[in-house]
Amino acid sequence: MSEQVPLFLAPMAGVTDVAYRLLARESGADFTSTEFTAASGLSRKDAKSWAKVETHPRESPFIPQIFGGIEDEMVETAQLLSKDADVIDLNFGCPAPKVTKTCAGAAMMGEPENLVRMVERCLENSEVPVSVKMRLGINQETLTVLEIAERCAELGVLRVCVHGRTLSQKYRGIADWDMIAKVVEVCEPHNTPVIANGDIVDADSAAKCLEVTGAQGLMIGRGAIGDPCIFGRIKSELGWEDFEAPWGDSNQAGQKHWAWNRYVELVDEIGGPYAARNMKQHAISFTKGLPGGRELRPHLHAIKDFRLIGEPLNIALEAFSQRRHNTLMVQEAIEAAATASEAGGWRR
Ligand SMILES: Cc1cc2nc3c(=O)[nH]c(=O)nc-3n(C[C@H](O)[C@H](O)[C@H](O)COP(=O)(O)O)c2cc1C
Repeated sequence: MSEQVPLFLAPMAGVTDVAYRLLARESGADFTSTEFTAASGLSRKDAKSWAKVETHPRESPFIPQIFGGIEDEMVETAQLLSKDADVIDLNFGCPAPKVTKTCAGAAMMGEPENLVRMVERCLENSEVPVSVKMRLGINQETLTVLEIAERCAELGVLRVCVHGRTLSQKYRGIADWDMIAKVVEVCEPHNTPVIANGDIVDADSAAKCLEVTGAQGLMIGRGAIGDPCIFGRIKSELGWEDFEAPWGDSNQAGQKHWAWNRYVELVDEIGGPYAARNMKQHAISFTKGLPGGRELRPHLHAIKDFRLIGEPLNIALEAFSQRRHNTLMVQEAIEAAATASEAGGWRR
């Protein structure tokens, strides 16, 4: 049996809003962080950027993630955030062209000197520990991760998270866990924990990834979209700690049903103009794999008022969890969605 390690919800733009992070914690994740936020926006005091790094008293530790290609902006932002954050995470993994064209995100993996100097200055100027999240390099010809991870460890970062793909792979191919094992080796002499990331989707892949990499933690991204209970399931299935599942002994469908309703409650509790901004996308994700999900999705898409999206999905998930996923229930959910979509209101 694998030794227990902490489980991290991967930062994901458009997914890991405050409510979803609290939900992941309740579902067994040990650590969460915000989606990546531009240092350029934060250092300009842009309200929308600051909304992305909002937190909640129950989210402890609070780990905002930032990215940027301009060293001074990153340093200033780390300084600003470190007044409220517990840890600041620096993103060197984003492959999106709008990010890499400013030499930020994963593009920094092609500039080891600049990256290391940025990390060093953020460490010097932050009042709290700094962690880094990176890819393997720009492409198979320039795998810079070993050099960069080792130098970051030498500088004293709190931990190094590695997504086992290169920038040019984006999300294609298979995450290279063997390479992450090498990162673990180079960070070991500095006692710097390495968090393995990429293609962990259930207890089996979690155990396999730990076996291959020997990492000190696991990070899960896409596997937690529409299924935050993955964290608790991994812990129970691997026989780790007594994780007391808030969904009781429900099957996976029942877990989704619990999670969706809890998400709606948390969004309501958090309130404010931004709490529900990803709600429709989450609703669509929760329908993946649901019998009748394909038929239901366009109707959910059509709902303009995000507050009305909860009920139709609730009907469908309830039916699914009670194994009453017959066409009548799907039809009932579709009708509820159609009624909701006729109501006017806030448009995403
Ligand atoms: C929709 C989406 C948004 C993402 N946004 C971020 C982000 O804001 N910051 C970041 O470091 N990585 C981001 N990632 C990458 C994930 O954190 C993670 O490294 C990647 O998905 C690989 O892990 P997985 O195989 O478990 O999904 C994003 C991934 C997805 C699918």
